[in-house]
Order: sequence, then C-alpha cells, then structure tokens
Amino acid sequence: MMMRAEIGQNSKQIKAKRDLSVKALVLSGGAGTRLRPITHTSAKQLVPVANKPVLFYGLEAIAEAGISEVGIIVGDTADEIREAVGDGSRFGIDVTYIPQEAPLGLAHAVLVAQEFLGDDDFVMYLGDNFIVGGITGLVEEFRAERPDAQILLTKVPDPTAFGVAELDGDGRVVGLEEKPKQPKSDLALVGVYLFTAAIHEGVRSVEPSWRGELEITHAIQWLIDHERDVRSTVISGYWKDTGNVTDMLEVNRSVLETVQPLNAGTVDEDSEIIGRVRIEEGARVSGSRIVGPAIVGAGSVVDNAYIGPFTSVSEDCRIEDSEIEYSIVLRGSSVTGVRRVEASLIGRDVEVTPAPRNPKAHRLVLGDHSKVQISS
Ligand code: DAU
Repeated sequence: MMMRAEIGQNSKQIKAKRDLSVKALVLSGGAGTRLRPITHTSAKQLVPVANKPVLFYGLEAIAEAGISEVGIIVGDTADEIREAVGDGSRFGIDVTYIPQEAPLGLAHAVLVAQEFLGDDDFVMYLGDNFIVGGITGLVEEFRAERPDAQILLTKVPDPTAFGVAELDGDGRVVGLEEKPKQPKSDLALVGVYLFTAAIHEGVRSVEPSWRGELEITHAIQWLIDHERDVRSTVISGYWKDTGNVTDMLEVNRSVLETVQPLNAGTVDEDSEIIGRVRIEEGARVSGSRIVGPAIVGAGSVVDNAYIGPFTSVSEDCRIEDSEIEYSIVLRGSSVTGVRRVEASLIGRDVEVTPAPRNPKAHRLVLGDHSKVQISS
C-alpha cells in the first residue's frame, strides 16, 4: 500500500511531468483560394519549397522542439495530407488526424481538437506558415514561463492581410484585430501560437466574425479582456505565410540558398553546372546550363535548356529547349521549346509548349482562376 506522503510526492512528479508536456495542433484544412488554381486539386500545405512540402518544414520544427504528440486538422484534402505525412514516424512524431467538416476558422479548429488536446499546453501551427530557425527557443521559453497565451508578431508592409496586434507603451498586447481595414499597427500575427488550456474558455466564447469564421484572434482578445496573461514576442527573423504565389516563390528562393549541392543523376559533358545545384536521383541533364541555387527533382530530364537561379523543378519533369528562372515546377510537368519562363508557379502534369504551326498564336487551356502573363 502506498503511504500518503508517497502519494503526494508521486502526484507532484506527475504534475511536473504534465507541465512539461506540450502538444502541437497543426492546421492543414482550409480551402487555399489565394493559391488557385494549384489548390483546386491539392492541399496548399503540400506545395513544395525546394521540392519538399511546406508542411514538412513545420513538422520538422515541431519534432525538433521535442514535441511528439501532434494533431493535424484536415478538411477536403485529408486523403492527400494523410498520404504525405502518414503516421508521422519519419518525422519522429505521433500524428492524430482530426477532421474539420469545413474551414470555419482557427478557433473552430481548436474546438474540434478539444478531445485530442485535453488540458495540455499546445503549440498551434498554421500548416502554410514558414519560419526560419524553427520554434525550439520559443517552446522552451513557453515551457518555463507558461503564460496563458504567447503570440508571435512581425512587422509587415501590408497588415490588412493579417491578424494585427496593438501594443501599449510597455509592449503588452491590448488589442487584436483580424484583417482590419484600418490597422492600428504594422505588427502582424505570425501563424504560431502557444496556449495553455485557458484558451478553451476563450474559444467557446467567440461568435462568428464578419467573414463567418470563429477567429482565434477573438479568443485571444477574450483572454486579454479577462486579464489573463497574454504575451507577445516580436520576431525580426524570416517568416512567410505561403498563401500566395509571390510569397511561395520568395520562400523557395530563401530555402534554395541553403540546399546542399548534390549530383545523384547524370550530367553530360556538354552541360555546365554553376553554384549550389542539387540534381536528384535519376535526373538527366544534357546540353544544358544550370545556374544555382536550383534543384532538379528525381527522374526529371533537362535537355538543351537553361535553368536559372532560384528554380525548383520537381520529380518527373521535362525542361527541354527552354529557359526558366525563379520558378517552381511541380511533379510531372513539361516546359518544351519556350524561350523564357520567369517568376512562375507551374502545377502538376502541366504542358507548356510553343504553338506547333501557323498562326503562331497563344493557345491556352487554363484551369479556373489561372493567371497568365504573355509577352508579345
Ligand atoms: O499566416 C498568419 C495569419 O494566419 C494570421 O496573421 C491571421 O491572424 C490568421 O487568421 C491566419 O490568416 P489566414 O487568412 O492566412 O488563414 P488561412 O485561412 O490561410 O488559414 C491558415 C491555415 O489554417 C491554413 O493552412 C489552412 C488552415 N485552416 C484554416 C481555417 C480557416 C484550417 O485548417 N481550418 C480552418 O478553419
């Protein structure tokens, strides 16, 4: 039989252990309208940056911070996310999938994850956010201090596209607004939040916003209004919400600067490879010039072509008699006989070719919401 004192000590140990346990809630549902048409058919969190899905960088950062219990919110693209991430073992995490019937807001995602989260502290990580340098330091600080909520802020040129924080003279958060028309500051909310179980009461108290969503900013505002401890850290490092093509290309650029050069394919004598270039397994380069940083995915063919800096070509693509620079080409696509492609995001199994016969007109088969700029 256990003595009373022992029981006391034991429960203290359990509490200490519990206090250290932090889960992660990764949001990978949603519709992704701003990356259309790419995201009509696929999850925006799986669009690759330097040939690796943006979501994977987040999962790696979570694992690195010592978090192993990870809930992933999934919506319409659930099958695709499950197929890509699996049970999480290859990231060293244990994944629980949490279906959300519709993208009804970030606070709604916390509501549907209630059972998974229990009373544990958690990091909420938006699956389309990209943070250089990971979240380890942040999670450590939160573990030590345990405020009710810790948010990250960064200065942005156009705050109207984000959640925006207002700070008082001492740097305390006094107000949060979601996508305000007249922002009170240029400090945007970054898509990584740290919470204790206190957030659940806030989440249960919010009403749908003007855009019909249950906003996490409102739930955090509720904490502020109820004098709970809400802290903020202003980060100046690199952060991007990869929700649009410009940001996607920019994140791709910055990650390519750090890729390890490799030649796991074949490069013939007539080719020239300059700088940081990664040629993955089975890729074939002939009669071409590749100026890094750039990456050519497994099984792709580059023939009589120029691939310029900051270009990621995914697996099984063909770049032939063409020039391409500062672009992302997704799996199974081909660019053949095209003089110059720049700042482009090309989807999966796409074919770009010149018009075969006269009249040499532009012939286009484009998905809904496509954007094409033609120089003529
Ligand atoms: O990126 C930072 C911004 O993220 C913050 O500044 C904003 O305050 C915050 O509301 C959020 O704004 P976005 O408009 O960028 O959120 P988005 O709808 O793109 O959703 C972010 C991620 O969460 C994305 O991976 C999709 C997923 N999601 C979204 C909603 C609304 C879900 O899984 N379920 C949802 O209900």
